[in-house]
Amino acid sequence: MDQLALLTNDPRLTLAATCVGGCVIALFGLKVIVNFYKYFLRPSKNLKKLGEWAVVTGATDGIGKAYAFKFAKKGLNVVLISRTKSKLDDCAAEIKEKYGVEVKVIACDYSNFDDKARAGVAKVCGKLDVGILVNNVGVSYVYPKYFSELKEEEVDGLMEMNVNSTTWMTHMILPGMMERKRGSIVNVASAAGVNTMPLLAQYSAAKGYITMFTRGLSVECAKKNVTVSVVTPFYVATKLAKMRKALTVPTPPAFVDMAVRWIGHGDVVVQPFWIHGVMGWVVNSLPTFLSDSVIMGMHAGIRARGIKKDARKAAEGKGN
Ligand SMILES: NC(=O)c1ccc[n+]([C@@H]2O[C@H](COP(=O)([O-])OP(=O)(O)OC[C@H]3O[C@@H](n4cnc5c(N)ncnc54)[C@H](OP(=O)(O)O)[C@@H]3O)[C@@H](O)[C@H]2O)c1
Repeated sequence: MDQLALLTNDPRLTLAATCVGGCVIALFGLKVIVNFYKYFLRPSKNLKKLGEWAVVTGATDGIGKAYAFKFAKKGLNVVLISRTKSKLDDCAAEIKEKYGVEVKVIACDYSNFDDKARAGVAKVCGKLDVGILVNNVGVSYVYPKYFSELKEEEVDGLMEMNVNSTTWMTHMILPGMMERKRGSIVNVASAAGVNTMPLLAQYSAAKGYITMFTRGLSVECAKKNVTVSVVTPFYVATKLAKMRKALTVPTPPAFVDMAVRWIGHGDVVVQPFWIHGVMGWVVNSLPTFLSDSVIMGMHAGIRARGIKKDARKAAEGKGN
């Protein structure tokens, strides 16, 4: 006890503790200033300098549609790739009318992105000066579930739509960018791709693949003037999320307005919507056992409601 008292009265120790505390506060302050600059003040890159065309997968709804419209607004021609031809044609007509750029559409089902489907996409995109590729298409669980509850087609779909689509689209488009020495690939992952997500384990793993794929590629491509980044949003108000707009749930255009500002700057793992950035910081600051149990509890609640809804639908089906 006496020794402890001596230590706490030691002025050198007090000075060291003050210095360490001061450094931590200074570093934190610096991080806040840098992030404020990146979120709100840093000028956007001139995206047209990357190439004439932007290719967006899953481009007829939600986040992908917002990216396609934003690029067209900035004067880029766009290739829209999605499943439903009628929706593609509607989007293309709207973009042409609003922004007067060229638009190509490709109807492609990414749940089976085999050699034939890939050849169809390559036939159109292979000839173009693609400056931006947004690997946006993806699928999540219908609602949170234990992995053991997923049906075989759900397991297959999560890999095909998230992992294979991103990998093969990149394999197709990246060589042209490397040759032209310009371009940017934006992979749409999720906060689930950087945080532990119980009851969304396979979705989280698939998005985690995209995150690590991006991190490796970004270093490989840096010397060729090609940037590769991954966006990791929390909820965005889309059909997939089944969420309405709220403070923490931006609309797709609001999300994309902020997301495009990050393109081409060299940031690799990006949380482009500032409120999501704060949420990510909070989650990462909590002890793992606490964040794990909070997320598990939240997802268990959504799962319970999903099961109830399924049961209600089944009962109504029986009634008919
Ligand atoms: N929304 C969120 O809260 C959130 C959060 C984190 C990450 N993300 C990620 O963001 C990405 C986009 O999600 P979103 O919420 O914008 O989705 P969304 O609103 O449901 O839009 C999905 C788009 O993908 C297309 N699509 C769906 N299945 C397809 C298939 N089998 N083949 C080809 N195209 C297909 C749809 O076209 P059709 O209409 O023709 O089917 C539509 O254009 C996903 O990778 C998702 O994991 C979303």
